Amino acid sequence: MKLFNRILPLFLPASLALCFFSCTRPAAEQTMNRFIDSLMSEMTLEEKIGQMNLPVTGSIVTGQAQSSDIAQQIREGRVGGLFNLKGVESIREVQRIAVEESRLGIPLLFGMDVIHGYETVFPIPLAVASSWDTLAAQTMARVSAQEASADGISWTFSPMADVSCDARWGRMSEGFGEDPLLCSKMVAAMVRGYQTDNLADSTSILSCVKHFALYGAVEGGLEYNNAEMSRYRMYNDYFPPYRAAVEAGAASVMAAFNTVEGIPATCNKWLLTDILRNEWNFQGFVVSDYTAVQELREHGVAADKHEAALLALQAGLDMDMVSEAFFLLQDDKNMLPYIDKACRRILEAKYRLGLFDDPYRYCSRNREENIYTAQSRGEARRIARETFVLLKNDNSLLPLKKNSTIALIGPLADTRANMSGTWAVAATPSRYKTLREGLQDAVEGKGTVLYAKGCNLTSDPVLEANATMFGREMRDPRSDEQMLKEALSVARKADVIVAAMGESSEYSGECACRTDLSMPDVQHDLLVELKKTGKPVVLLNFSGRPVVLNWEAENLPAILQVWFGGSETADAVADVLFGDYCPSGKLPAAFPRTVGQMPMTYRRFNTSRPLADGKDTFSKYQSSYIDSPKSPLFPFGFGLSYTTFHYSSPVLQNSPTCPTVSISVTNTGTRDADEVVQLYIRDKVSMPARPVQELRGWQRLHLAAGETKTVEFLLDVQTLGFYDQEGKAVKPEGEFEIMVGPDSKNVKTLTLSL
Ligand code: NOJ
Repeated sequence: MKLFNRILPLFLPASLALCFFSCTRPAAEQTMNRFIDSLMSEMTLEEKIGQMNLPVTGSIVTGQAQSSDIAQQIREGRVGGLFNLKGVESIREVQRIAVEESRLGIPLLFGMDVIHGYETVFPIPLAVASSWDTLAAQTMARVSAQEASADGISWTFSPMADVSCDARWGRMSEGFGEDPLLCSKMVAAMVRGYQTDNLADSTSILSCVKHFALYGAVEGGLEYNNAEMSRYRMYNDYFPPYRAAVEAGAASVMAAFNTVEGIPATCNKWLLTDILRNEWNFQGFVVSDYTAVQELREHGVAADKHEAALLALQAGLDMDMVSEAFFLLQDDKNMLPYIDKACRRILEAKYRLGLFDDPYRYCSRNREENIYTAQSRGEARRIARETFVLLKNDNSLLPLKKNSTIALIGPLADTRANMSGTWAVAATPSRYKTLREGLQDAVEGKGTVLYAKGCNLTSDPVLEANATMFGREMRDPRSDEQMLKEALSVARKADVIVAAMGESSEYSGECACRTDLSMPDVQHDLLVELKKTGKPVVLLNFSGRPVVLNWEAENLPAILQVWFGGSETADAVADVLFGDYCPSGKLPAAFPRTVGQMPMTYRRFNTSRPLADGKDTFSKYQSSYIDSPKSPLFPFGFGLSYTTFHYSSPVLQNSPTCPTVSISVTNTGTRDADEVVQLYIRDKVSMPARPVQELRGWQRLHLAAGETKTVEFLLDVQTLGFYDQEGKAVKPEGEFEIMVGPDSKNVKTLTLSL
C-alpha cells in the first residue's frame, strides 16, 4: 500500500518560519528595496566592491594574511565589515570612521567567531550535542548574542553545520557530531538563538552557517583536505544541517575550504547557486572562509588572484574574507551584475540589522555590564552539566560523597585556561575556576581535595606545544618520574582518585587533527600506576572529539566524558561528580575502539556480506576487521545515569493517515533524572539502499524517581523518507524496522508495513 504520494522536503517543513527574512513584510521589504536602490545608485563600482570586502583586524588571526591601513580603506569606502575586533570602544571608533569619514557613511558589520559563548563560555558544540537539548543550544546562542552584541559584535561565524564521522578531524569539536538529524536540530536552534525572530532587536546578531559544504568529511580526517562523496550521500547525510540552518533563517553562509567534486566550495557554482539559492531559496549573503579566494590558486583551479576572484564571484560568493580579491574585477564590465547582486545582499543584511537607523546600536557603553553576568554563568553551568556523558560507573562508584578525601590528579586538574575548549576567542580564563577550585568549593567544610599534576599532557614537548597554542601553555619542567612520585604519594592518602586527563583545549579544533586517538603516553602511564594503588579511579575525560578509551574502559571503574564545558566547567563537574545533578548526556558520535575504524558511523550500510546478527568479530568473507571488533567501544546515543530506566514494549498504531509508535519509560531508581528516548528506523528494501539504522527522532524527558511517561513518535513522511541521488524526496513504502531505546544499540524493534 502506498501511503505517501507526494514528494516533500524531508526534515524541513516548508512552513518553518524564515524569521530573518520574514521580519521584513512586503511593505517593509519595499521600503528596504527603495532605500537600497537609492543608495546603490550613488555608489561607485569601487564602493560596491568595498561592501564585498571583509578584511581582518585585531590581534587574533587564523591564517597568514594581515590587512593593513584599515582606517584609510574604510574612509575610501573599500570595507564592508571587519572581524575579530573586540570591545565597544574600538568598534565604536571604527564605526565612526565608516559613518562619518567615508563618502556615503555606510556602516560596517563587525564579525567574530562567537562559537560557544562569548565571555561566558558554554560547552563546545559537540558537548552541547550530547545534551540532545535543542533549547540548550538555543539558549547558548541567545546568551552569546546578548553578550557579543553588548560588546559591539553584529555577526557571528556560527553555527558549524558540518556532520563528521571522523574523530581524527580536529574540528569535530565545533560541530554537533555524526548524525544529520541531531546536527540539523541543533544548528536550527542556534540560528534562532542568535537571530531571534527580530533581527532589528539590538541583542540579535547575524548568524553564519558554515562550512558549506562537506568540510566534516575531509579525507583522512586531515585539515583542509578534499571531501568527495556521492550526491546521494550529500543529500541524505551531509546537506540536511546546512539546509536546516537556511530554513531557520540563517542570514549568511560561509563557503568551505575543501573541494566538492573537484571544485573548491569557494567557487563551486553547483553548491553556492544551484543548491543554496535555487533549491533552498537562500536569501542572505555568502562569505568565503579566511583567504579562501586567493587560495584557489593553491587548489590549482585559478592561475592568479584575478582569476580566483572571477571564479568565486561567478559561482555565487558575495563577500571575500581577507583576500581583498574582488577589487581586481573593477574593469570587467561582465562582472557588474554579479557585483550588484552581491553588494545588495550585504546592504540588505545591514538594513535588516537596523544599522542604517543607528550604526552604533551595538556600541552602547552601558550594555557591557550584560556580559559575564551571574545569570549567563548560571545558564552555562546548567547546560554544561547536561553535556557530560557517563560512560562507565561500576558498583555506583559515582556520585562521590562530599565528605571523602579525594586525590585530584592530572594535567587538566588545575588549569584555568583549558576549561573553555577550542574557539573561545572572547574568553577571559583568568576569571574561570580550575577544576581543583570547583571541587574544593563543593566539599568545603566536609571533605578534602588533595592535588598533584601527575604528568604533562604528553612526554613530547613539541606535541604539547602544538596542543597548547594561543597562550594555553601548561608544561611542567619537572621530570616524569618526579611528577609520578608526587602523584602516587597524594593518591595513597585518598579514599578515591579523580583523574582529570585527556586533551587540552587546542588538542582539538582547527588544524588539530590526530592520527592517534588514545590517551597520550604519560597520561596513560600515570593511569596505570594510579590503578595499582588499589584506590578506585574515576576518569574525567576531557576531549574535543571521540577518543579511544579501551584500556580505561577495561581497567577503571568509572568514566565521565566531560568534553570542554566552558567557563563554568569546574562547578558543573562538581555538580555531577557529587550527585547534585544526575548525568544525562548521550554520545553525539560513537567512541571507536581504534583509530583504524575512522571514519565510522552507526548509519552504515548493510553491505552484501554483513556479519551474522549479534556477531561483532572477524568472520572470513564477511564485512569485518581481522584485528578488531567491528562495533565502536561506546555506541552513538549512549550514556548512563545514576538512576535506571525501564522501557516498556513499544506499541505501533498503523493508522492510514499517520502511523505512530509509543513507548513508556519509567525511572526505576531513586533519583530524579532526565532521559533521552531515541527513535531509529531502517527502511528494509529500497532503491537506493538505506542504512541499517537512522535516528529519526528523540525526546528528552524529565522523570522523577518512580515516575513513568509515555512518548509518542509520528512515523510520517519526514520521519521515514529519504532523498534520491538527485535530491528528490522518495516516498516511504514497504517494510520498516522501527527501533526505540536509550541508545543506538540497545533498542526494541517493531516492524511497520506501509
Ligand atoms: C577559518 C575558519 O575555518 C572559520 O571557521 C572561521 O570562521 C574563520 N577562520 C574566521 O576566523
